[in-house]
Amino acid sequence: MTASVTVRVPAKVNVQLAVGGLRPDGFHDLANVFLAVGLYDEVTVTHADGMRITCAGPDAGQVPLDGSNLAARAARLLAARYGRTADVHIHIDKDIPVAGGMAGGSADGAGALLACDALWGTAAPREELLEICAELGSDVPFSLVGGAALGRGRGELLTPLETAGSFSWVFAVADGGLSTPAVYGECDRLRESSGQGATSADVPDPEASPALLAALRTGDAPALAAAVTNDLQPAALSLRPDLAATLAAGTQAGALAAMVSGSGPTTAFLAPGPEEALKTAELLAASGTCRAVRVAEGPVAGATVVA
Ligand code: C5P
Repeated sequence: MTASVTVRVPAKVNVQLAVGGLRPDGFHDLANVFLAVGLYDEVTVTHADGMRITCAGPDAGQVPLDGSNLAARAARLLAARYGRTADVHIHIDKDIPVAGGMAGGSADGAGALLACDALWGTAAPREELLEICAELGSDVPFSLVGGAALGRGRGELLTPLETAGSFSWVFAVADGGLSTPAVYGECDRLRESSGQGATSADVPDPEASPALLAALRTGDAPALAAAVTNDLQPAALSLRPDLAATLAAGTQAGALAAMVSGSGPTTAFLAPGPEEALKTAELLAASGTCRAVRVAEGPVAGATVVA
């Protein structure tokens, strides 16, 4: 019997987040272009009496260790489908910023799912794993798949995207977190107060930008920088006006593009290459406008069993 399984799962950045109208089910239709980047959580599962979750890492104190953790929910959903109990110790080595718009929680859900599947020998088909991921959250299927992908629907319906080479990113980690539902709610409120309206009848269907997809395909960082957009950025800035100073500091530090990552409050900066990324990171750290700075390349592979 396998004693333990470790899965490594990357963070993501949304290079385009086009948000459609509010649907009757409370979600928004998206055209969500995901890129997996090389910041990783490692999820290790071991047989245990009952379920236990532990977490280590600089932000471990902010991670819920109860049944609400996406890793716990993933283990329970897989166990229920295969008629077993989720008797497992899940340990998360957390390196992805918490509550930051980089899909750290989603990564742990996808990681625990893949790890439990290997530990228990359930050998669930890929399609079934993706179905469970979608049940866990809109961003979870992408954490499993990685690379670059376009997410339609609420973000869970994935089409892999062709890319060339590697893009260099700098991430500025902000103090505190932002609640994803609160940011979507603020997006709706801003649309209503501008007179546009917030429902699917008021907002055009979100579409992936052809220029952005071409920039990914050709590995052209300046073209990608010119095409990145995030429809949640005005809402994130409305709730966290302090992020404007971080964005300005990154631009001043030589970034080709500066944007809020997903629903924030992490901000993402595209650099021309790895060396420039390190320089931008140094200057951003010295600017005093963020709590921590990280650099990462993408695209990288999705959830992978490492031990
Ligand atoms: O799917 P997930 O649990 O990550 O979504 C968290 C919340 O984010 C949802 O309850 C909803 O408020 C918001 N959301 C949305 N439209 C999406 C994805 C998420 O409104 N496409």
